[in-house]
Amino acid sequence: MPSRLDGPVKATGRAKYGVDHNLPGMAYGYLVLSTVAHGEIASMDLTAARAAAGVLAAYSPFDPLELGTPTLPAFGDTWVPLQDKEVAYYGQPIGFVVAETFEQARDAALLVEVEYHERPALTSLADGLATAEDAPTSGHGGGPSLDILADGVESIEDALAASTVVVSETYSTAAQNHAPMEPHSAVAHWDSTGLTIHSGTQASDMQAAELSMALGVEISRVHAVNPYVGGAFGGKGRTSAPAFLAAAASRDLGRPVKASLTREQVFTATAGRAATVQEVSLGADADGTLVAVRHDSWCSTGADRSFVEPTSHGTSREWYATPNLSLRQKMVPLNLPPTTFMRAPGEAPGSFALESAMDELAVALRMDPIELRLRNNSIAPPGKDLQWSAKYLDDCFRIGAQRFGWDQRTPNGRTDGDWLVGLGTATAMFPALRFPASVRVTLGSDGRAEVATSGADPGTGLLTVLSLVGAETLDIAPERVTPKLGDSSLPAGGMSGGSTATASAGSSVMLAASTVLDSLLELAAAPGAPFEGAEVTYADGQVFADGRSMPFGELLRAVGRDSLSATGSTAPGEELTKHSFSSFGAQFCEVRVHRWTREARVSRLLGVFDAGRIVNEKAARSQLSGGMIWGVSAALHEAMEVEPNGRIANGDFAGYLLPVHADIPDIDVQFIEHPDTLHNPVGAKGVGEIGTVGLAAAIANAIYNATGTRVRHIPITIEDLL
Ligand code: MOS
Repeated sequence: MPSRLDGPVKATGRAKYGVDHNLPGMAYGYLVLSTVAHGEIASMDLTAARAAAGVLAAYSPFDPLELGTPTLPAFGDTWVPLQDKEVAYYGQPIGFVVAETFEQARDAALLVEVEYHERPALTSLADGLATAEDAPTSGHGGGPSLDILADGVESIEDALAASTVVVSETYSTAAQNHAPMEPHSAVAHWDSTGLTIHSGTQASDMQAAELSMALGVEISRVHAVNPYVGGAFGGKGRTSAPAFLAAAASRDLGRPVKASLTREQVFTATAGRAATVQEVSLGADADGTLVAVRHDSWCSTGADRSFVEPTSHGTSREWYATPNLSLRQKMVPLNLPPTTFMRAPGEAPGSFALESAMDELAVALRMDPIELRLRNNSIAPPGKDLQWSAKYLDDCFRIGAQRFGWDQRTPNGRTDGDWLVGLGTATAMFPALRFPASVRVTLGSDGRAEVATSGADPGTGLLTVLSLVGAETLDIAPERVTPKLGDSSLPAGGMSGGSTATASAGSSVMLAASTVLDSLLELAAAPGAPFEGAEVTYADGQVFADGRSMPFGELLRAVGRDSLSATGSTAPGEELTKHSFSSFGAQFCEVRVHRWTREARVSRLLGVFDAGRIVNEKAARSQLSGGMIWGVSAALHEAMEVEPNGRIANGDFAGYLLPVHADIPDIDVQFIEHPDTLHNPVGAKGVGEIGTVGLAAAIANAIYNATGTRVRHIPITIEDLL
C-alpha cells in the first residue's frame, strides 16, 4: 500500500505551511475582534495602538483597507472584514494592527478602544425557533420544501395517521468549529508581478480568484501557493479574514505581512457548523415497510444567512424508499459566527436524527435495526426516476454484521463487570459528486512524468492519488511521477471539498495522460522520428513498433524534445441524466456505559463502505477512520458553548472537547469495492465525508441498547445518562 508522498516532510516538520513562510522585511498583523454580539461600532480609538512600540499601521471600519466583496458562482459572496460598522457576532474581526513583531502587534491590538451602540442579540437556536425563516429555495439551502404523496393520500399527516406504527421525535445537534490543526493564516507580499500569498486553502485557484476580486487586480497578478494545508474540512473553502487583511495591508505598506488567527480566534473569526433541531416522524407497516417520512429541520445561520445546513434534504430525501415524504428546511439567523460547510454538511447532523429515529422505529416494531434498514433499501431516491448507479448497502450491512458479531446483540445489551455494554448501527450515505477540474500531464526526456493541477491537498492524500492515477494511465511506476498541487498558476483543479477530488482531478489526470500518449505516438511516427511511418503502440512506458521499443524519455531525446505536455479538463455531464450517485456504508459500534459513573466509552468501531474504486487503500482508510473519529467526537465530545452575551465560552482546546487517543478504540474499516465507472472514469465515488455520517446515531443507538436511555441530542454527556 503506497504511503503518502508528503508524509515524511510533514512528520519531520519540513513541510512549510502558510504561516511558516518568513520574508525579508516582513511585518506582523494581529486581528482585533468585537466584544459584543450585535450592534454598530460607534467609535474606535486607535491612538494608543498607533503610538505603541513598533506599530506600522492600524486599520478599522473607520479607516479601512480597501477590499471589495468577491463572488464565486458556486458559493456566492464571501465576507470581507472591516468594510462596515455592523457587528453581527461576538468575536467578529473589526480591526487589524500591523507592527514590526507579532508581540508588538498583539500588545497594540489590546490598546484599541471600541464603543458600540449595542442591540439585543439572539444567540440560541432554541430561543430563535419562533423567528425561523424558510431556507432559500436555491443555493446552499438544500432545496425547497418537498412533498411527495402517494395517489389518494391528502397529506403527510394522513399518511402518518394511517401507519401501523409511528415514531415522532425531536432531535438536536450542537454547533461545531472545524478547529483545524493549522489556524487560518497568511503570508502575503507584492512585487512587480503582483501578489504572492501563502495561506492554507481547499482550492488555490479559487483563493486566487477571490483575492483578485477583493483587491481589484487581474487574476493573473495573484499567485496563491499552498502545497501543504493543515486541515480544512470545509472551513478553508473560502478565503479567510487573515488572508484578505494580510494581502491588503501588504499592498498598503509595501512590505510582506504575516497574519494568523490565534487558536481562540479560529472559533469566531471563521465559520463553523450550524446547530440544528430536527423533528422526524416515521410511519411504518407492521412488517417495517416505511409508509411515511417527515423531516422538518431548523438550523442556525449567521446574520448574513450565507449558509444553510441542509439536514432534511441531505438525508431523508436520499436514504430510504417511501411512498410519502415531506421535507421542510428552516433557518434561524443568530448573532453567532456564521456557518459553512463542515464534513458531510447536512448528512452529518441529519443522519443523527434520521438514524436515531430508525432505531426507535425498530424498537417500536421489535425488529432488528439492520433488517428494518434493508427492508426499506431504495433503488432510487424517492421522487426521482434515476436509479443508483450502484448500491451495495445490503452487502455493507451483511458483511459488517458478521464481522462485528451482530448476532450476539440482545435487545437489552449485556453487562461486563461494572460496564453496561450495547451495540448500535446506522446507515451512512454521502452523494458522489464531481467538480470541473483541469490537470496537466508532462512527459520528460529524463523518463519522468509530472502531474500538475492547482487544487489543494488539505491532508486528504490527493497529492499521492494524482501520482497513482497518473502512473496507472501512463503505465509506469508511481516513483517516476512527480505530482504538483497547491499553486494557482497550475491548471484550475477545483476544490478539495465535497469528497470530490479523486473523481474530479483523477478523471482529468486520465484524460490528460491519454492525450499526451496520443501526442507521443504521433511524434514517434512522424517523418524523421525513430518510428517514422510505423504503426506504433504504447505500453510500459515505451513506444513499440515492428518488434522494436523505445522508452518515452529516449524517444523525446531522439526527436530533440525536452518534454511533451497535454492538459485534460473534465466536468460532470451526461451521467447526471442517467443515474443517481452515492457512496454507502454501514456503521457499527460497541459502547460501554459505566454502571456508577455513567461515563460512556466507545469500545469497538467498524465501518463497511461501498465507495466505488479505492485508489489508495491506506489513504482511504485514514479518511474513513478520521471521519468515524469525528463521529465519536460529535456524539460524545464536541459543542460550541455560548454564554448569554454571545461569547463562545469554550473557544480553545482546553474547553472544546475533542477525542484523544484514549477515547478511540481500534477502528476497523472495510471496503466493498465496486468501481463505479458510470460516475467517472476513475470509478472512485469519494471517501472524505461518509466516514462521519451515521456514526453519532450508531453511538446513541448503542447507548440505548446498553442502558435503555434514549438521548435525542448530541453531544451526549454523563448528565444525560444519570
Ligand atoms: Mo468538505 S465540507 O469541504 O470536508
